[in-house]
Amino acid sequence: MTNINTDKLSSARFAEATDAFVEVFTASVDFDQRMAAQDIQGSIAHATMLCASGILSTDERDAIIAGLTQIGGEIERGEFVWSIKQEDVHMNIEARLTDMIGIAGKKLHTGRSRNDQVATDIRLYLRDEISHISRELTRLQTAIVNLAEQHSDTIMPGFTHLQVAQPITFGHHLMAWFEMLSRDYERLQDCCKRLNVMPLGAAALAGTSYPIDRHMTAGLLGFSRPSANSLDSVSDRDFAIEFAATASLIMMHLSRFSEELILWSSAQFDFIDMPDAFCTGSSIMPQKKNPDVPELVRGKSGRVTGHLVALLMLMKSQPLAYNKDNQEDKEPLFDTADTLINCLRAYADMVPHLRAKKANMYNSAKRGFATATDLADYLVRKGMAFRDAHEVVGLAVRLGLETERDLSEISLAELQQFSALIGEDVFGYLTLEGSVAARKHIGGTAPETVKQAILTAKQQLQDR
Ligand code: ARG
Repeated sequence: MTNINTDKLSSARFAEATDAFVEVFTASVDFDQRMAAQDIQGSIAHATMLCASGILSTDERDAIIAGLTQIGGEIERGEFVWSIKQEDVHMNIEARLTDMIGIAGKKLHTGRSRNDQVATDIRLYLRDEISHISRELTRLQTAIVNLAEQHSDTIMPGFTHLQVAQPITFGHHLMAWFEMLSRDYERLQDCCKRLNVMPLGAAALAGTSYPIDRHMTAGLLGFSRPSANSLDSVSDRDFAIEFAATASLIMMHLSRFSEELILWSSAQFDFIDMPDAFCTGSSIMPQKKNPDVPELVRGKSGRVTGHLVALLMLMKSQPLAYNKDNQEDKEPLFDTADTLINCLRAYADMVPHLRAKKANMYNSAKRGFATATDLADYLVRKGMAFRDAHEVVGLAVRLGLETERDLSEISLAELQQFSALIGEDVFGYLTLEGSVAARKHIGGTAPETVKQAILTAKQQLQDR
């Protein structure tokens, strides 16, 4: 049951050496043994269906299931001996089964091929990983919502071009991250829907002449249905690419999240305090507290996108149906799932311990003339054209810069030099609190709107 032609071992030296190398070169067992649990799960369902369809006897089925169950235990306990001679996870398990139960073991592969088997295993594997990733994502989103709840009225500067733009609430900023991750969550579930279709029965490429019941196997494995075309089933890895694309988007979002945490924890911003347990010191500079976790996550986003590109290039131009190229899909996929789970886990553990430095956030918004737009809007409401208002506010900001005062600190008489439309009521708009409170429409930054968004978010998390 191996691809190696043992006759060759006694032929010319060159051929012998090449074969030994090719054996190692073509083997995948070192990495695909990771799908052992899914391989066994698929084989048990296949054997159950073969028996129900009259292709295996009940004794054979029972021997196969008992043998596979025992093998599963050996693998879990680390007792199973993996052999490169058996090339991959599928052949290793089948060979051990045959050792254990004899001829019945050899019948397991009836009506299937490694091509539909491996396509099934990857789908089962990704389904498991997606449910793990979804749990971590939900844990992180819960942490974000809880932090936002503490800061629905904490004022900070909002930025465009990384320049202070308008005052916002920290809770609102946190909820922006929540929204990104909610779309990621939906994408994951959507990806799962498409990959949850069963390739088994496609066999090598053309299907099988045995009277198999694909609906039964699909039902046993929790797939929504059997796949509709045998050639497509064994060849395409678009579902894996879709998963990697979704993972890349999540990592891209985490990299943006990271970048902000890194900036904010610097002495220049000083908006947040990162928990010590998630930072490290410098071996040479005693004053340093480095935001290692966000930096690593930001770095790892590149690695996951790299896997996406690798998978796209792997699939590109492959003729139908199965090609050995596809064996190369495993390592990028496994690493994508591992990296993503680790990054989400680190973030879900860290976010509850982030401490906002409210006074610094507030003062930064104040120093940046964050309410300039509010003054312009005020003048427009009094009848001035927006472009003229923009001009007037520019003059007021210049005075503020020259005299080191925020707009709310300039006297009414001074403001009236720029426009007679300005009255005593202007100060209600020039304060940071007035500015954020005014933006109370859906999606706005007002504390009352943020509180509402948090309620909706909590409901969304509960409904998952
Ligand atoms: N190890 C192979 C893979 O990962 C399994 C399928 C091999 N099929 C074949 N006909 N060589 O793709």
